[in-house]
Amino acid sequence: MKNTLIKGDNIDSLVYIRDKMKLRESIDLVYIDPPFATGGEFKTDSNGRVATISSSSSGKIAYSDKLTGSAFIEFLRERIQIIYDLLSPQGSFYLHIDYKIGHYVKCMLDEIFGIENFRNDITRIKCNPKNFSRIGYGNIKDMILFYTKGKKPIWHEPRIPMSEEEIAKLYTKVDKNGRRYTTVPIHAPGETKDGKSSQKFKGILPPPGRHWRCSVEELEQLDKDGLIEWSASGNPRKINYADEHLTKKLQDIWTFKDSPNPIYPTEKNHEMLQTIIKASSNEDSIVMDCFAGSGGTLVEASRLGRKWIGVDKSDIAIETIKKNLENNGFFANESMYKYIEI
Ligand SMILES: C[S@@+](CC[C@H](N)C(=O)[O-])C[C@H]1O[C@@H](n2cnc3c(N)ncnc32)[C@H](O)[C@@H]1O
Repeated sequence: MKNTLIKGDNIDSLVYIRDKMKLRESIDLVYIDPPFATGGEFKTDSNGRVATISSSSSGKIAYSDKLTGSAFIEFLRERIQIIYDLLSPQGSFYLHIDYKIGHYVKCMLDEIFGIENFRNDITRIKCNPKNFSRIGYGNIKDMILFYTKGKKPIWHEPRIPMSEEEIAKLYTKVDKNGRRYTTVPIHAPGETKDGKSSQKFKGILPPPGRHWRCSVEELEQLDKDGLIEWSASGNPRKINYADEHLTKKLQDIWTFKDSPNPIYPTEKNHEMLQTIIKASSNEDSIVMDCFAGSGGTLVEASRLGRKWIGVDKSDIAIETIKKNLENNGFFANESMYKYIEI
């Protein structure tokens, strides 16, 4: 499949992708960032700068966000039902939304994907703290709802570096060679009867109600390798060295602030898009964004060697996507990808 940019309403475009491009069950990753039901209009001024002023009479409208309440939910439902058909069995779906409407969207997504396929409600810190006067706390986050189509999705565990302070706080001990380390228990909750993890290790049984984290043979090997520390009272713990654990699992609160000088209204952080694409797609995967805006998802999919499909109905969005792809050096001109108007 050639990378494809479609200009048109995404309801028709999704039907086209399913029936004409024959991509039912073929797309491994869909990220969408639809309008958030704000009731506003998003504009660019004559200098191409972007604004979010719904009352301003000047500027060209990039897109309007007038659907609210249940009409908005039904607008999304219709489209996500087709997206569900397009997702491969190993596919993932990420939807970017705000705190005002996000919880209603979550209920609708649970109906389509099944609550058992709901993976995360990711809190995304989107900007610096706001100090203007308002009844209520400053809002610096939005949310990303993450679902998979099934039980065996593509998943490349995202890990992030630990800071010097985190390493110093976590790895408080130093061995005779100057290596920083910490120790962790070698037993875990739950008794296993007659199993390899319930036998005696160096004459000791796991404490009542617990089992060894691995088999006694593995514990013997760890001890031989000098990776068990024995306390003065004879309590064994496993040694973990800092230099072997310099990264940590990414949790569900992300700080990926958006650019203060976006090229399109509500343009999202590219590092965040990269994180999603790396975690939930492979090199040969097709990645789709059918509310593409500035085309950040398409640029990052290109950078990571994925194939992509982008859809937007706004003239300004399509213009911005083409420039964005060119400026990032992926496509010198639009003959290098398929461009369709629907
Ligand atoms: C929030 S913006 C996306 C911004 C994008 N994530 C970025 O980083 O630049 C939503 C986009 O969805 C597009 N859109 C809204 N309704 C649409 C529809 N029915 N069909 C196609 N595009 C639509 C708008 O034109 C707008 O560009």
